[in-house]
Amino acid sequence: MTNSEKQHHQKPHAIFIPYPLQGHVIPAVHLAIKLASQGFIITFINTHSIHHQTSKAHNNSDDIFAAIRDSGLDIRYTTLSDGLPVGFDRSLYHDQFMASLLHVFSAHVEEAVGKIVKESKETVTCLIADTFFVWPSAIAKKFGLLYVSFWTEPALIFTLYYHLHLLRMNGHFACQDVREDPIDYIPGVKTIDPKDTMSYLQESDTSSVCHQIIFSAFRDVRGADFVLCNTVQEIEPETIAALEAKMPFYAIGPIFPSGFTKSAVATSLWSESDCTQWLDTKPEGSVLYISFGSYAHVTKRDLVEIANGLLLSNVTFVWVLRPDIVSSEDVDPLPVGFKEAVSDRSMILTWCCQNQVLAHPAIGGFLTHCGWNSILESIWCKVPLLCFPLYTDQFTNRKLVVDDWKIGINLSDRKVVTKKEVSEKINRLMNGKSGNDPYRTKFIELKKALENAWVANGTSLKNMDSFINGLKAKAQTHCGLVL
Ligand SMILES: *[C@@H]1O[C@H](CO)[C@@H](O)[C@H](O)[C@H]1NC(C)=O
Ligand SMILES: *[C@@H]1O[C@H](CO)[C@@H](O)[C@H](O)[C@H]1NC(C)=O
Ligand SMILES: *[C@@H]1O[C@H](CO)[C@@H](O)[C@H](O)[C@H]1NC(C)=O
Ligand SMILES: *[C@@H]1O[C@H](CO)[C@@H](O)[C@H](O)[C@H]1NC(C)=O
Repeated sequence: MTNSEKQHHQKPHAIFIPYPLQGHVIPAVHLAIKLASQGFIITFINTHSIHHQTSKAHNNSDDIFAAIRDSGLDIRYTTLSDGLPVGFDRSLYHDQFMASLLHVFSAHVEEAVGKIVKESKETVTCLIADTFFVWPSAIAKKFGLLYVSFWTEPALIFTLYYHLHLLRMNGHFACQDVREDPIDYIPGVKTIDPKDTMSYLQESDTSSVCHQIIFSAFRDVRGADFVLCNTVQEIEPETIAALEAKMPFYAIGPIFPSGFTKSAVATSLWSESDCTQWLDTKPEGSVLYISFGSYAHVTKRDLVEIANGLLLSNVTFVWVLRPDIVSSEDVDPLPVGFKEAVSDRSMILTWCCQNQVLAHPAIGGFLTHCGWNSILESIWCKVPLLCFPLYTDQFTNRKLVVDDWKIGINLSDRKVVTKKEVSEKINRLMNGKSGNDPYRTKFIELKKALENAWVANGTSLKNMDSFINGLKAKAQTHCGLVL
């Protein structure tokens, strides 16, 4: 088909490639749906591995978007190899997985994008890809596409990575005798303690594959035509304003499933157990929800202290415990007798629909690894957080939750966690609801910001409009297309 024939089709067509990790795929799927409902054609690309695990968990077939397509959205779906066999244990061999994404995946992406561009009836306008990929600028350029970078973490994290050169220059990163005093020269960040930066910025060996990915990705993102971030203007105003002054940065969060608790598209990698009937029998705000997310590992020592802390606390709880929470080589890490001892006041599940659990009135607290999706969801449900960050952005997210917003408490202040402290902190968190709830006012403010972001005149709605208009204008001058 020639270009002039293609020009009769006026919808922007985006190829969307999420990072192949659960926490990245979830907001990507829901952003894809949002864009499709705004008139985009989307070709969504998952890795074979993510696709295989998702469809196995939900017994569905070839196409995770099948159900939503009936509602008239034009979302096409395809899958690609990330360079490793589907059965490879990516979580256990994290570095090999990351190395494959760094060195091999781009060749598969390039081939697939070339094929889609060639075979699509409609001109492909842009490549939407996770900021952590190292190749989007180059591949977009090769096929004449605009590059839209999708950032699934807070703006604060983005800006810290984006300004790595300043951290180096000032001796806060990648040098001998790294400075320990607060960082106060990042535009839009008043001050941040080096201990609250991302785990990768606190390591002395900066030659790991993850460091290479971060360095390359944040070089590449300078070539992005647009950056979309799953945050909300009102919750990180200074940081976002500083970024907006510098680049086409758009805060368009929170990206949730349209019904929040019910997603038309299955995104979880494990099948979900339903504990709502059990929760229905519990008093309001009385149950602690515990999850360390989809990927991070907890050491056996910490896991045992947390379990024993739960035992001491007497609290009722739902614990989502992936089989590989410690390691896929240690599938039953709980202390002997623990499950029996707490059987009358707990549900221990492999996985659940987190939004549904957090939204349940019985939930009164969330012991979390501080993943960004979990924090946004917790704000939405006004559930205070007990923070146990494990790696990457989670330390920095903890700072936002505990130090800046004051909607949660630290579990351990980075010291070794003990069962006594776990029990005390759990009870402190859960007692917040009774008596004088210290989190209430801030939750009302943050929830309102999230809610208002997507209503008329809301900041995310406006930012999304301005992104779409900007994309259309740029596509017109860039590719000579009328969109
Ligand atoms: C998928 O199928 C298996 C076996 O037939 C069944 O045990 C499981 O509950 C199903 N899962 C879902 C999400 O439907
Ligand atoms: C838990 O229950 C036991 C037995 O009733 C009691 O001795 C203990 O003080 C309780 N612990 C807390 C933290 O409430
Ligand atoms: C929480 O822990 C961090 C270290 O991770 C510490 O800097 C901060 O002061 C602690 N905050 C509170 C309120 O205890
Ligand atoms: C949106 O803002 C404009 C300009 O401030 C105002 O005229 C309009 O009434 C607002 N619309 C809604 C629905 O609030």
